[in-house]
Amino acid sequence: MKEIKKDVYWVGKVDWEIRKFHGDEYSTHRGTTYNSYFVKDKKTAIIDNVWSPFGSEFVENLNKQIPLKKIDYVIAQHAEIDHSGGLAELMEIIPDTPVYCTNNGVKSLKGHFHKDWNFVPVKTGDKLSLGKKELTFIEAPMLHWPDSMFSYLQDENILFSNDAFGQHLASEMMYNDLVDQAELFQECIKYYANILTPFSALVEKKIDEFKSLNVPVDMICPSHGVIWRDNPLQIVGKYLDWSKDYRENQVTIVYDTMWNGTKTMAEAIAKGIKLVDEKAAVKLFNISRSDKNDVVTEVFKSKALLVGSPTINSGILSAVAGFMEQIRGLKFKEKKAAAFGTHGWSGESVDMIGKGLESAGFELLDEGIKSTWNPDEKSLRECTEFGKEIAKQTKI
Ligand code: FEO
Repeated sequence: MKEIKKDVYWVGKVDWEIRKFHGDEYSTHRGTTYNSYFVKDKKTAIIDNVWSPFGSEFVENLNKQIPLKKIDYVIAQHAEIDHSGGLAELMEIIPDTPVYCTNNGVKSLKGHFHKDWNFVPVKTGDKLSLGKKELTFIEAPMLHWPDSMFSYLQDENILFSNDAFGQHLASEMMYNDLVDQAELFQECIKYYANILTPFSALVEKKIDEFKSLNVPVDMICPSHGVIWRDNPLQIVGKYLDWSKDYRENQVTIVYDTMWNGTKTMAEAIAKGIKLVDEKAAVKLFNISRSDKNDVVTEVFKSKALLVGSPTINSGILSAVAGFMEQIRGLKFKEKKAAAFGTHGWSGESVDMIGKGLESAGFELLDEGIKSTWNPDEKSLRECTEFGKEIAKQTKI
Protein backbone atom coordinates (compact mmCIF):
# COMPACT_ATOMS: atom_id res chain seq x y z
CA MET A 1 0.00 0.00 0.00
CA LYS A 2 1.65 3.20 -1.17
CA GLU A 3 0.17 6.62 -0.55
CA ILE A 4 0.13 8.58 -3.80
CA LYS A 5 -1.84 11.56 -2.48
CA LYS A 6 -3.42 12.34 0.83
CA ASP A 7 -5.51 9.29 1.77
CA VAL A 8 -5.26 7.86 -1.74
CA TYR A 9 -3.25 4.65 -1.99
CA TRP A 10 -1.95 2.37 -4.74
CA VAL A 11 -2.79 -1.22 -3.81
CA GLY A 12 -2.09 -2.99 -7.10
CA LYS A 13 0.33 -5.59 -8.38
CA VAL A 14 3.51 -5.26 -10.45
CA ASP A 15 3.75 -8.21 -12.84
CA TRP A 16 7.35 -8.46 -14.01
CA GLU A 17 6.86 -11.86 -15.62
CA ILE A 18 4.04 -11.46 -18.10
CA ARG A 19 5.15 -11.52 -21.74
CA LYS A 20 1.83 -12.11 -23.49
CA PHE A 21 -1.45 -10.40 -22.76
CA HIS A 22 -4.98 -11.00 -24.07
CA GLY A 23 -4.00 -14.63 -24.59
CA ASP A 24 -1.27 -14.36 -27.19
CA GLU A 25 -2.57 -11.18 -28.82
CA TYR A 26 -0.39 -8.54 -27.19
CA SER A 27 3.29 -8.80 -26.31
CA THR A 28 4.40 -7.30 -23.02
CA HIS A 29 8.19 -7.16 -23.32
CA ARG A 30 8.45 -5.01 -20.22
CA GLY A 31 5.79 -6.72 -18.06
CA THR A 32 2.87 -4.72 -16.74
CA THR A 33 1.10 -3.57 -13.60
CA TYR A 34 -2.49 -3.94 -12.48
CA ASN A 35 -3.18 -0.72 -10.65
CA SER A 36 -5.81 -0.67 -7.96
CA TYR A 37 -6.46 2.36 -5.81
CA PHE A 38 -7.92 2.76 -2.33
CA VAL A 39 -9.46 6.09 -1.34
CA LYS A 40 -10.07 6.86 2.33
CA ASP A 41 -12.41 9.47 3.76
CA LYS A 42 -15.45 9.11 5.99
CA LYS A 43 -16.32 6.40 3.53
CA THR A 44 -13.84 4.29 1.61
CA ALA A 45 -13.71 3.06 -1.97
CA ILE A 46 -11.56 0.62 -3.88
CA ILE A 47 -11.10 1.42 -7.56
CA ASP A 48 -10.39 -1.53 -9.88
CA ASN A 49 -8.28 -4.50 -8.84
CA VAL A 50 -5.96 -7.08 -10.42
CA TRP A 51 -5.80 -9.92 -12.92
CA SER A 52 -7.36 -13.18 -11.69
CA PRO A 53 -4.10 -15.11 -10.95
CA PHE A 54 -3.23 -12.38 -8.45
CA GLY A 55 -6.73 -12.17 -6.95
CA SER A 56 -5.93 -14.08 -3.72
CA GLU A 57 -2.68 -12.20 -3.19
CA PHE A 58 -4.50 -8.91 -3.74
CA VAL A 59 -7.24 -9.69 -1.22
CA GLU A 60 -4.77 -11.02 1.37
CA ASN A 61 -2.52 -7.96 1.06
CA LEU A 62 -5.45 -5.61 1.21
CA ASN A 63 -6.79 -7.34 4.28
CA LYS A 64 -3.48 -6.83 6.10
CA GLN A 65 -3.83 -3.10 5.66
CA ILE A 66 -7.53 -2.37 5.58
CA PRO A 67 -10.16 -4.40 7.36
CA LEU A 68 -12.03 -5.48 4.25
CA LYS A 69 -15.40 -5.00 5.90
CA LYS A 70 -14.51 -1.31 6.09
CA ILE A 71 -14.64 -0.98 2.31
CA ASP A 72 -17.83 0.95 1.64
CA TYR A 73 -17.79 1.05 -2.15
CA VAL A 74 -16.31 -1.00 -4.95
CA ILE A 75 -15.71 0.89 -8.19
CA ALA A 76 -15.37 -1.36 -11.25
CA GLN A 77 -14.33 0.89 -14.11
CA HIS A 78 -13.94 -1.98 -16.57
CA ALA A 79 -14.90 -5.63 -16.37
CA GLU A 80 -12.01 -7.15 -18.32
CA ILE A 81 -10.42 -9.57 -15.88
CA ASP A 82 -7.07 -7.83 -15.66
CA HIS A 83 -8.97 -5.22 -13.60
CA SER A 84 -11.75 -7.27 -12.08
CA GLY A 85 -10.03 -10.62 -11.44
CA GLY A 86 -9.84 -10.02 -7.69
CA LEU A 87 -13.54 -9.19 -7.41
CA ALA A 88 -14.76 -12.74 -6.98
CA GLU A 89 -12.70 -13.26 -3.82
CA LEU A 90 -13.26 -9.78 -2.49
CA MET A 91 -17.02 -10.00 -2.90
CA GLU A 92 -17.07 -13.35 -1.07
CA ILE A 93 -15.97 -11.37 1.99
CA ILE A 94 -18.05 -8.22 1.43
CA PRO A 95 -21.00 -9.56 -0.60
CA ASP A 96 -23.40 -6.68 0.03
CA THR A 97 -20.99 -3.85 -0.77
CA PRO A 98 -22.27 -1.77 -3.67
CA VAL A 99 -20.39 -2.21 -6.94
CA TYR A 100 -20.40 1.00 -8.99
CA CYS A 101 -20.03 0.48 -12.73
CA THR A 102 -21.72 1.40 -16.00
CA ASN A 103 -24.81 -0.40 -17.28
CA ASN A 104 -22.58 -2.31 -19.66
CA GLY A 105 -20.30 -3.03 -16.71
CA VAL A 106 -23.19 -4.80 -14.98
CA LYS A 107 -23.74 -6.99 -18.06
CA SER A 108 -20.07 -7.74 -18.46
CA LEU A 109 -19.36 -8.43 -14.77
CA LYS A 110 -22.38 -10.71 -14.60
CA GLY A 111 -21.14 -12.42 -17.76
CA HIS A 112 -17.71 -12.98 -16.26
CA PHE A 113 -18.57 -13.91 -12.70
CA HIS A 114 -22.23 -15.08 -12.85
CA LYS A 115 -23.02 -13.31 -9.60
CA ASP A 116 -25.80 -10.93 -8.77
CA TRP A 117 -23.80 -8.48 -6.69
CA ASN A 118 -25.25 -5.23 -5.39
CA PHE A 119 -24.65 -3.36 -8.65
CA VAL A 120 -25.16 0.40 -8.82
CA PRO A 121 -25.15 1.44 -12.49
CA VAL A 122 -23.78 4.94 -13.07
CA LYS A 123 -23.81 7.43 -15.93
CA THR A 124 -21.57 10.35 -16.82
CA GLY A 125 -21.88 13.07 -14.19
CA ASP A 126 -23.11 10.80 -11.41
CA LYS A 127 -21.30 11.48 -8.15
CA LEU A 128 -20.40 9.47 -5.10
CA SER A 129 -19.53 11.35 -1.94
CA LEU A 130 -16.94 9.78 0.32
CA GLY A 131 -17.06 12.64 2.83
CA LYS A 132 -14.93 15.59 1.86
CA LYS A 133 -13.74 13.80 -1.24
CA GLU A 134 -16.16 13.07 -4.05
CA LEU A 135 -15.94 10.84 -7.09
CA THR A 136 -17.50 11.83 -10.41
CA PHE A 137 -18.03 9.10 -12.97
CA ILE A 138 -17.44 9.58 -16.69
CA GLU A 139 -18.57 6.86 -19.08
CA ALA A 140 -15.94 6.09 -21.72
CA PRO A 141 -17.55 3.57 -24.03
CA MET A 142 -15.13 1.91 -26.47
CA LEU A 143 -12.10 3.29 -24.65
CA HIS A 144 -11.64 0.54 -25.00
CA TRP A 145 -14.67 -1.63 -24.17
CA PRO A 146 -18.36 -0.69 -24.12
CA ASP A 147 -18.32 -0.83 -20.31
CA SER A 148 -15.25 1.37 -19.69
CA MET A 149 -15.47 4.43 -17.50
CA PHE A 150 -13.23 6.98 -15.78
CA SER A 151 -13.58 8.42 -12.29
CA TYR A 152 -12.48 11.87 -11.20
CA LEU A 153 -11.62 12.50 -7.56
CA GLN A 154 -12.46 16.04 -6.63
CA ASP A 155 -10.27 17.73 -4.03
CA GLU A 156 -7.25 15.56 -4.87
CA ASN A 157 -7.69 16.33 -8.59
CA ILE A 158 -7.04 12.79 -9.75
CA LEU A 159 -8.39 11.24 -12.94
CA PHE A 160 -8.60 7.46 -12.66
CA SER A 161 -8.57 6.57 -16.33
CA ASN A 162 -8.53 2.76 -16.33
CA ASP A 163 -6.92 1.47 -19.57
CA ALA A 164 -6.71 4.92 -21.22
CA PHE A 165 -3.32 6.61 -20.84
CA GLY A 166 -1.87 3.33 -19.55
CA GLN A 167 1.12 1.33 -20.66
CA HIS A 168 2.35 -2.20 -20.18
CA LEU A 169 5.41 -1.26 -18.17
CA ALA A 170 6.40 -3.02 -14.98
CA SER A 171 8.23 -0.67 -12.66
CA GLU A 172 8.77 -0.16 -8.97
CA MET A 173 9.22 3.53 -9.68
CA MET A 174 5.49 4.24 -9.82
CA TYR A 175 5.58 7.67 -11.48
CA ASN A 176 6.14 8.92 -15.02
CA ASP A 177 9.03 11.21 -14.11
CA LEU A 178 11.03 8.38 -12.54
CA VAL A 179 11.18 5.94 -15.45
CA ASP A 180 13.12 5.86 -18.71
CA GLN A 181 11.22 8.22 -21.00
CA ALA A 182 12.01 6.35 -24.23
CA GLU A 183 10.70 3.09 -22.74
CA LEU A 184 7.65 4.84 -21.33
CA PHE A 185 6.58 6.49 -24.56
CA GLN A 186 7.37 3.40 -26.64
CA GLU A 187 4.97 1.44 -24.44
CA CYS A 188 2.38 4.24 -24.63
CA ILE A 189 2.38 4.44 -28.42
CA LYS A 190 2.37 0.66 -28.73
CA TYR A 191 -0.65 0.53 -26.44
CA TYR A 192 -2.45 3.21 -28.42
CA ALA A 193 -1.58 1.67 -31.80
CA ASN A 194 -2.65 -1.85 -30.89
CA ILE A 195 -5.66 -1.14 -28.67
CA LEU A 196 -7.07 2.30 -29.36
CA THR A 197 -6.50 2.95 -33.07
CA PRO A 198 -10.03 1.86 -34.12
CA PHE A 199 -11.54 4.25 -31.58
CA SER A 200 -9.52 7.37 -32.37
CA ALA A 201 -12.59 9.51 -33.11
CA LEU A 202 -13.98 8.61 -29.69
CA VAL A 203 -10.63 9.38 -28.02
CA GLU A 204 -10.72 12.92 -29.37
CA LYS A 205 -14.35 13.38 -28.38
CA LYS A 206 -13.83 12.05 -24.87
CA ILE A 207 -10.82 14.28 -24.29
CA ASP A 208 -12.79 17.31 -25.47
CA GLU A 209 -15.65 16.32 -23.17
CA PHE A 210 -13.31 15.97 -20.20
CA LYS A 211 -11.59 19.28 -20.98
CA SER A 212 -14.98 21.00 -21.04
CA LEU A 213 -15.47 19.99 -17.39
CA ASN A 214 -12.66 22.44 -16.69
CA VAL A 215 -11.41 20.63 -13.63
CA PRO A 216 -7.81 20.65 -12.40
CA VAL A 217 -5.78 17.50 -12.98
CA ASP A 218 -2.84 16.88 -10.67
CA MET A 219 -2.55 13.21 -11.51
CA ILE A 220 -3.75 10.71 -14.06
CA CYS A 221 -3.89 7.25 -12.57
CA PRO A 222 -4.31 4.58 -15.25
CA SER A 223 -4.83 0.94 -14.44
CA HIS A 224 -1.62 -0.20 -16.15
CA GLY A 225 1.88 1.20 -15.79
CA VAL A 226 3.06 4.39 -14.20
CA ILE A 227 1.02 7.22 -12.74
CA TRP A 228 1.25 10.55 -14.57
CA ARG A 229 2.12 13.14 -11.94
CA ASP A 230 4.73 15.25 -13.75
CA ASN A 231 2.88 17.33 -16.34
CA PRO A 232 0.07 14.74 -16.37
CA LEU A 233 -1.65 16.30 -19.36
CA GLN A 234 1.33 15.51 -21.58
CA ILE A 235 -0.10 12.05 -22.23
CA VAL A 236 -3.46 13.62 -23.09
CA GLY A 237 -1.66 15.79 -25.67
CA LYS A 238 -0.02 12.68 -27.12
CA TYR A 239 -3.38 10.93 -27.36
CA LEU A 240 -4.79 13.92 -29.23
CA ASP A 241 -1.87 13.78 -31.70
CA TRP A 242 -2.24 10.04 -32.14
CA SER A 243 -6.00 10.24 -32.59
CA LYS A 244 -5.67 12.50 -35.65
CA ASP A 245 -4.64 9.91 -38.25
CA TYR A 246 -1.09 10.02 -36.96
CA ARG A 247 1.81 9.45 -39.35
CA GLU A 248 5.48 10.21 -39.55
CA ASN A 249 7.76 10.26 -42.58
CA GLN A 250 8.04 6.49 -42.49
CA VAL A 251 7.30 3.62 -44.84
CA THR A 252 6.97 0.15 -43.35
CA ILE A 253 7.52 -2.92 -45.49
CA VAL A 254 6.06 -6.13 -44.11
CA TYR A 255 6.59 -9.44 -45.85
CA ASP A 256 7.19 -13.14 -45.50
CA THR A 257 9.32 -15.14 -47.86
CA MET A 258 9.94 -18.80 -48.75
CA TRP A 259 13.25 -18.81 -50.64
CA ASN A 260 14.14 -15.12 -50.20
CA GLY A 261 12.61 -13.94 -53.50
CA THR A 262 9.99 -11.73 -51.85
CA LYS A 263 12.60 -10.59 -49.32
CA THR A 264 14.90 -9.50 -52.17
CA MET A 265 11.99 -7.58 -53.70
CA ALA A 266 11.39 -5.84 -50.34
CA GLU A 267 15.01 -4.72 -50.17
CA ALA A 268 15.00 -3.44 -53.76
CA ILE A 269 11.78 -1.49 -53.12
CA ALA A 270 13.31 0.00 -49.96
CA LYS A 271 16.33 1.11 -51.98
CA GLY A 272 14.05 2.92 -54.44
CA ILE A 273 12.23 4.76 -51.65
CA LYS A 274 15.51 5.97 -50.17
CA LEU A 275 16.74 7.16 -53.58
CA VAL A 276 13.82 9.61 -53.75
CA ASP A 277 13.42 10.49 -50.07
CA GLU A 278 16.60 9.94 -48.13
CA LYS A 279 15.04 11.36 -44.97
CA ALA A 280 12.20 8.84 -44.91
CA ALA A 281 12.49 6.09 -42.32
CA VAL A 282 12.11 2.81 -44.20
CA LYS A 283 11.67 -0.24 -41.98
CA LEU A 284 11.47 -3.85 -43.13
CA PHE A 285 9.93 -6.67 -41.13
CA ASN A 286 9.74 -10.34 -41.94
CA ILE A 287 6.41 -10.81 -40.17
CA SER A 288 7.03 -14.48 -39.42
CA ARG A 289 10.09 -13.50 -37.38
CA SER A 290 8.85 -10.25 -35.85
CA ASP A 291 6.69 -9.33 -32.92
CA LYS A 292 3.30 -8.55 -34.45
CA ASN A 293 2.46 -5.79 -31.97
CA ASP A 294 5.79 -4.05 -32.53
CA VAL A 295 5.12 -4.20 -36.27
CA VAL A 296 1.63 -2.72 -35.81
CA THR A 297 3.24 0.12 -33.85
CA GLU A 298 5.52 0.81 -36.82
CA VAL A 299 2.54 0.73 -39.20
CA PHE A 300 0.79 3.21 -36.91
CA LYS A 301 3.73 5.59 -37.32
CA SER A 302 3.88 5.17 -41.09
CA LYS A 303 2.48 7.16 -44.00
CA ALA A 304 2.57 4.02 -46.17
CA LEU A 305 2.58 0.27 -45.75
CA LEU A 306 3.87 -2.20 -48.33
CA VAL A 307 2.96 -5.85 -47.85
CA GLY A 308 4.56 -8.75 -49.66
CA SER A 309 4.06 -12.47 -49.91
CA PRO A 310 4.90 -15.16 -52.42
CA THR A 311 1.94 -17.12 -53.74
CA ILE A 312 1.30 -20.45 -52.06
CA ASN A 313 -1.70 -22.68 -52.70
CA SER A 314 -3.26 -19.83 -54.70
CA GLY A 315 -3.01 -17.59 -51.65
CA ILE A 316 -0.57 -15.95 -49.24
CA LEU A 317 1.71 -17.17 -46.50
CA SER A 318 -0.04 -17.69 -43.17
CA ALA A 319 2.03 -15.14 -41.22
CA VAL A 320 1.07 -12.45 -43.76
CA ALA A 321 -2.56 -13.59 -43.58
CA GLY A 322 -2.50 -13.17 -39.79
CA PHE A 323 -1.02 -9.71 -40.15
CA MET A 324 -3.67 -8.74 -42.71
CA GLU A 325 -6.38 -9.75 -40.25
CA GLN A 326 -4.72 -7.69 -37.55
CA ILE A 327 -4.64 -4.50 -39.62
CA ARG A 328 -8.19 -5.08 -40.87
CA GLY A 329 -9.49 -4.79 -37.35
CA LEU A 330 -7.44 -1.72 -36.46
CA LYS A 331 -9.11 0.50 -39.11
CA PHE A 332 -6.11 2.68 -39.93
CA LYS A 333 -6.98 5.85 -41.84
CA GLU A 334 -5.10 8.19 -44.19
CA LYS A 335 -2.37 5.66 -44.97
CA LYS A 336 -1.26 4.56 -48.40
CA ALA A 337 -0.34 1.04 -49.36
CA ALA A 338 0.78 -1.36 -52.07
CA ALA A 339 1.45 -5.08 -52.46
CA PHE A 340 4.30 -7.10 -53.89
CA GLY A 341 5.39 -10.70 -54.14
CA THR A 342 6.95 -13.49 -56.14
CA HIS A 343 5.27 -16.48 -57.71
CA GLY A 344 6.15 -19.47 -59.78
CA TRP A 345 2.84 -20.44 -61.33
CA SER A 346 -0.50 -18.76 -60.70
CA GLY A 347 0.51 -15.60 -58.76
CA GLU A 348 -2.61 -14.63 -56.79
CA SER A 349 -0.82 -13.21 -53.74
CA VAL A 350 -0.36 -9.60 -54.86
CA ASP A 351 -3.99 -9.13 -55.90
CA MET A 352 -5.18 -10.78 -52.73
CA ILE A 353 -3.03 -8.53 -50.51
CA GLY A 354 -4.07 -5.45 -52.51
CA LYS A 355 -7.76 -6.21 -51.97
CA GLY A 356 -7.10 -6.87 -48.28
CA LEU A 357 -5.28 -3.55 -47.87
CA GLU A 358 -8.07 -1.68 -49.60
CA SER A 359 -10.78 -3.25 -47.51
CA ALA A 360 -8.72 -2.49 -44.38
CA GLY A 361 -9.03 1.20 -45.24
CA PHE A 362 -5.65 1.85 -46.91
CA GLU A 363 -5.44 3.89 -50.11
CA LEU A 364 -4.01 1.50 -52.68
CA LEU A 365 -1.38 3.27 -54.78
CA ASP A 366 -1.45 0.85 -57.70
CA GLU A 367 -2.05 -2.78 -58.58
CA GLY A 368 1.25 -3.81 -56.99
CA ILE A 369 4.32 -5.49 -58.36
CA LYS A 370 4.90 -9.16 -59.12
CA SER A 371 8.05 -11.05 -59.88
CA THR A 372 8.49 -14.64 -60.98
CA TRP A 373 10.70 -17.26 -59.38
CA ASN A 374 13.88 -15.77 -58.06
CA PRO A 375 13.87 -12.11 -59.14
CA ASP A 376 16.61 -11.36 -61.67
CA GLU A 377 18.41 -8.06 -62.05
CA LYS A 378 15.76 -6.66 -64.37
CA SER A 379 13.01 -7.55 -61.88
CA LEU A 380 14.93 -5.96 -59.06
CA ARG A 381 15.47 -2.79 -61.09
CA GLU A 382 11.69 -2.70 -61.61
CA CYS A 383 11.21 -3.10 -57.85
CA THR A 384 13.54 -0.17 -57.22
CA GLU A 385 11.58 1.92 -59.75
CA PHE A 386 8.40 0.81 -57.96
CA GLY A 387 9.92 2.00 -54.67
CA LYS A 388 10.80 5.36 -56.25
CA GLU A 389 7.22 5.76 -57.44
CA ILE A 390 5.90 4.92 -53.97
CA ALA A 391 8.20 7.54 -52.45
CA LYS A 392 7.03 10.19 -54.94
CA GLN A 393 3.37 9.43 -54.22
CA THR A 394 3.79 9.47 -50.45
CA LYS A 395 6.28 12.31 -50.02
CA ILE A 396 5.36 14.54 -47.07
FE1 FEO B 1 -9.18 -3.68 -21.11
FE2 FEO B 1 -6.51 -3.54 -19.09
O1 FEO B 1 -8.07 -4.26 -19.76
